[in-house]
Amino acid sequence: MCGIVGYCGEKNAAGILVEGLKRLEYRGYDSSGISVGFNNKLTVIKKKGKISNLQAAVPKDLPGTYGIGHTRWATHGEVNDLNAHPHSDSSGKISIVHNGIIENYIALRKKLTAEGVEFITETDSEVIPHLISKFYDGDLEKAVKECLKHLKGTYGIVAVHADEPCRMVGARNGSPLVLGIGEGEMFLASDVTAMMAYTKQVVYMEDGDVVVVDKTSFRTTDIRDNERDKQISTVGWDIGEMEKDGFPTFMEKEIFEQPQSILRGMKGRLDIDQGTAKLGGLNMTNRELRMVNRVIILAAGTSSYAAMTCAYLLEKIARIPANAELSSEIRYKNPIVDPGTLYFVVSQSGETADTLYAMRELQRKGAKVLGICNVVGSTIPRESDGGVYIHSGPEIAVASTKAFTSQLTAMYLFSLIMARMRDMSMIDGKKIVEAMAKLPDDIETVLKLNSHIKDIADKYADCHSFFFLGRGLTYPIALEGALKLKEISYIHAEGYTAGELKHGPIALINEVTPSVFLVPDDSLREKIISNMKEVKARKGPIIAVAVEGDKEVEDIADDVIFVPKVHEVMYPFVMVVPLQMYAYHTAVKLGRNVDQPRNLAKSVTGARMPASA
Ligand code: G6P
Repeated sequence: MCGIVGYCGEKNAAGILVEGLKRLEYRGYDSSGISVGFNNKLTVIKKKGKISNLQAAVPKDLPGTYGIGHTRWATHGEVNDLNAHPHSDSSGKISIVHNGIIENYIALRKKLTAEGVEFITETDSEVIPHLISKFYDGDLEKAVKECLKHLKGTYGIVAVHADEPCRMVGARNGSPLVLGIGEGEMFLASDVTAMMAYTKQVVYMEDGDVVVVDKTSFRTTDIRDNERDKQISTVGWDIGEMEKDGFPTFMEKEIFEQPQSILRGMKGRLDIDQGTAKLGGLNMTNRELRMVNRVIILAAGTSSYAAMTCAYLLEKIARIPANAELSSEIRYKNPIVDPGTLYFVVSQSGETADTLYAMRELQRKGAKVLGICNVVGSTIPRESDGGVYIHSGPEIAVASTKAFTSQLTAMYLFSLIMARMRDMSMIDGKKIVEAMAKLPDDIETVLKLNSHIKDIADKYADCHSFFFLGRGLTYPIALEGALKLKEISYIHAEGYTAGELKHGPIALINEVTPSVFLVPDDSLREKIISNMKEVKARKGPIIAVAVEGDKEVEDIADDVIFVPKVHEVMYPFVMVVPLQMYAYHTAVKLGRNVDQPRNLAKSVTGARMPASA
């Protein structure tokens, strides 16, 4: 989604802004722009397409030590230079960048037009600089606050004025905004990655905050000038984690990081002696946990498949009724909140609008909601009633890989805690603890299959449609495998539970529609093998992900990816990684932009605010 970066300091602003925008590229965008202030004048440069287009248009010696930049992901108005941000008022003295959606922009536009303002873009955001200009009497902060009183919707905004050099005014309501504190320089950005090359000292803005920043200081108030106290936090990871480290893409790097990212997520949390786990952030006593009689897990996209896997696991090992629900559905269906139900929201970014607003809706109805998130300091962890950081490290590729296995890790730990408080014996608990501790090695073994998986992916890369089939715990993994392939290769793929195949989808099986079967050696193995035979009888090609030494599967399938034998509940981990690699190699073979697939954004923050919020 859209990205914001703002700078004021001693250095050349244009270079820093363009570099910051490049760091935000991963979020997904279709155009970009900057506005830089010098000698009481703002220079605005905007370009459709890649940031390299913008970079080529920015003169190397563009003077100015403050300014703002933006990557746009179009919502209102087509993708072109003009609709890109920053947007300006008619005098060209004010520039703003905006993330989010101004819901009452049509009414505001009408009113301003009647007052003689000329609009030059199709965006909702352009009303902002014109409103600021209307209220401006020499004080940008005052004018921004006045403007905000007229806006309905969501925003992260940064504004600058040509006559107020080295000053930025930022505001947040529903779209993230972070302040970065450097040595004699300050940053405002939609996420910390934009400023990580310069500072790790940050202040996370909250909804309703207005922040005024100069080179050396900042002040935060609400819209009515009441001071708001802020805490300075230190970002817990390094800029090096945002580099490709010799890998051709971030996605491949992130797939290969999984042994370490899973290990980080378990560190200090496994209790080998008691065969259980510890999760400090749940903010719940053992007594409260024992009172839980149902768990509902909300999420979107890949995170929803992690949620679904864990709902299966909770029922299986902890014998607690559990469901995964899509945030976008819960949000609008007036959820029934039951006091015995514990809610989780799962989100890599911690900013996905559907998930965030679903959480708020549940909290409004009295639910206790815990977060499972990766990005430290993001909105969901700050507003949830407790939760767990997955410590995956920054995930840059749009298609999620390592965050998925880290989400599983965190929720497996939770499921184990719940299981050990109920039915599960210490011996069985210890088996799960040992199996989890062994996971990094098991994933390492799977990663060694890279070239074999590439060969299979190359072989089927021309196919137009795929099925991904699993049962039980690997059913959500089949869904995730299909999603991964769709997202980055643009090949149509459907995930199904293998048991449903015969109830309709089997009509689509033919010689050119491969089915990827997940065949763990658990109680459902025989059932899946029958489903494979159903496909084989209809001449459908079969790629199986099976357990080392499974001759029967090898005989039926056209191609097999053998994963190591693991504890029966650990197959989601060792089976999802080959599917990530499969999608990756297919996308590379087809020449796709793996890290930034078309139409997708890393974090979808621009949804509309519910009317009641
Ligand atoms: C977007 C991304 C998906 C991601 C989903 C949920 O749609 O393209 O890759 O899985 O958001 O993101 P979250 O940050 O909430 O896990």
